[in-house]
Amino acid sequence: MQQRLKISGRSESLPMSQANAASLEAELDWFTRVVETRFGLHFGQESECKDIREHRPPELCDDESEYARLVRECGMGFDERIVLMLALIPHIRPQALDTFFVSNKNFERAFTEFGGVKGQVHGGFLPTCETASFILHGNDLAGRFNFIGMLDDDHFFAAKGIIEVEHRASGEPLFNGVLKLSNEYLNRFTTGQDLKPDYSMNFPAKRITTKLTWDDLVLTHDVLEEVENINAWLRHSKTIMEDWGLERTVKPGYRCLFYGPPGTGKTLTATLIGANAGLDVYRIDLSMVVSKYIGETEKNLANIFDQAKTKNWILFFDEADALFGKRTQTSSSNDRYANQEVSYLLQRVEDFPGVVILATNLKANIDEAFSRRFQTSIYFSLPDAEHRLLLWQGYFKGKCRLEDSVDLEKLAEEYVLAGGAIANVVRYGAIRALHMGRDAISHDDLVKGIAKELIKEGKTI
Ligand SMILES: Nc1ncnc2c1ncn2[C@@H]1O[C@H](COP(=O)(O)OP(=O)(O)OP(=O)(O)O)[C@@H](O)[C@H]1O
Ligand SMILES: [Mg+2]
Repeated sequence: MQQRLKISGRSESLPMSQANAASLEAELDWFTRVVETRFGLHFGQESECKDIREHRPPELCDDESEYARLVRECGMGFDERIVLMLALIPHIRPQALDTFFVSNKNFERAFTEFGGVKGQVHGGFLPTCETASFILHGNDLAGRFNFIGMLDDDHFFAAKGIIEVEHRASGEPLFNGVLKLSNEYLNRFTTGQDLKPDYSMNFPAKRITTKLTWDDLVLTHDVLEEVENINAWLRHSKTIMEDWGLERTVKPGYRCLFYGPPGTGKTLTATLIGANAGLDVYRIDLSMVVSKYIGETEKNLANIFDQAKTKNWILFFDEADALFGKRTQTSSSNDRYANQEVSYLLQRVEDFPGVVILATNLKANIDEAFSRRFQTSIYFSLPDAEHRLLLWQGYFKGKCRLEDSVDLEKLAEEYVLAGGAIANVVRYGAIRALHMGRDAISHDDLVKGIAKELIKEGKTI
């Protein structure tokens, strides 16, 4: 269902995208008047206004559009709203910046003071910091210096990941940086939807979800207790760090190592921790990251960590041994590259203010120096007979039918299988039953499936 919202001064409620459009129209109108006045002042033309700030920005106090919400949340003033609009306009009304293409007849070239660049394909004007500084301060040097504060890492534009200043060439002036609105905020301001980035060459992470719940999770008491500690940290970290004042002494974030044989529930547990706290969990396959994207890795990882920080994601590094194995070899230049990336990654993991979970089948490969830095290290063992029975029963809680011949106790007792293997057996059994024209799974279907699983693991039945 589409969300409906009330816009300031209007009594009717509007769908989110219309609400956003209505607010942005008003803001665009204000922005255009400000720019016209700046041009007038700069070129000494007759103008009604003597100062761009005479144009009051639209009132947004009871406007519920996403744009208005952010403006209120950050306490944005005139200057910040101009910069935000400037970064947004190439996406929503690129022609509104065409006035900046006017050429300087004296030199037969563009006006340097307008800044801006042209895109590779996009024909419109892409604003830079120079453009923003020009609109806000014209030739006023003190104003220009003040503007630099908005480019600071601590300013909410960077801290919240709203605007990034993209430098396209090294060694050029700071103000040449292009004002780039993040995709996340672009989506919010327009369609109103949250964008969930997904796996690509530049983003080697994938959001993981599950339909299973805590009730389906079968873990020993000790493991559950450790997992509960992570849940508790997620619930109380703010109180612990801020209210109890531990942020000065305790490193932010929570780093956990999950280790144990395949299919014992490491990924599932990480996914459920996220679901429980209402946070997205992103899985990064380290074997892919370290071996495939040498050189590009740091940039891609930085991208993930930066986004994760502002959005409170849980980061789940799978196959973590791929990383630790690499650290000691330095025989080739590729290895040295990988080593650099490993050090970089370890540093980012250590500095990350949220939850990071690393998973591996081989704890022996995990660097001593690093394991000391984990808050918890949890061993996911193969389930015992009692837990195997719970797992078997769990898979048949739904509508899936079993023939009377099926003896789950016996299967649980006789075959040592992890939850993942049991899931495979159940799937195999269901396919076999249907294939043979039956509407219920037989004991024999499951035994056949178990044999296949054991062969996979290099064992025989
Ligand atoms: N402890 C468990 N409780 C409930 N279900 C489980 C458990 N372990 C495994 N499963 C089932 O097996 C599937 C695979 O488990 P999961 O992917 O979490 O294993 P893993 O430990 O991450 O394995 P790997 O080391 O191969 O990555 C789960 O989606 C779930 O259906
Ligand atoms: Mg896994």
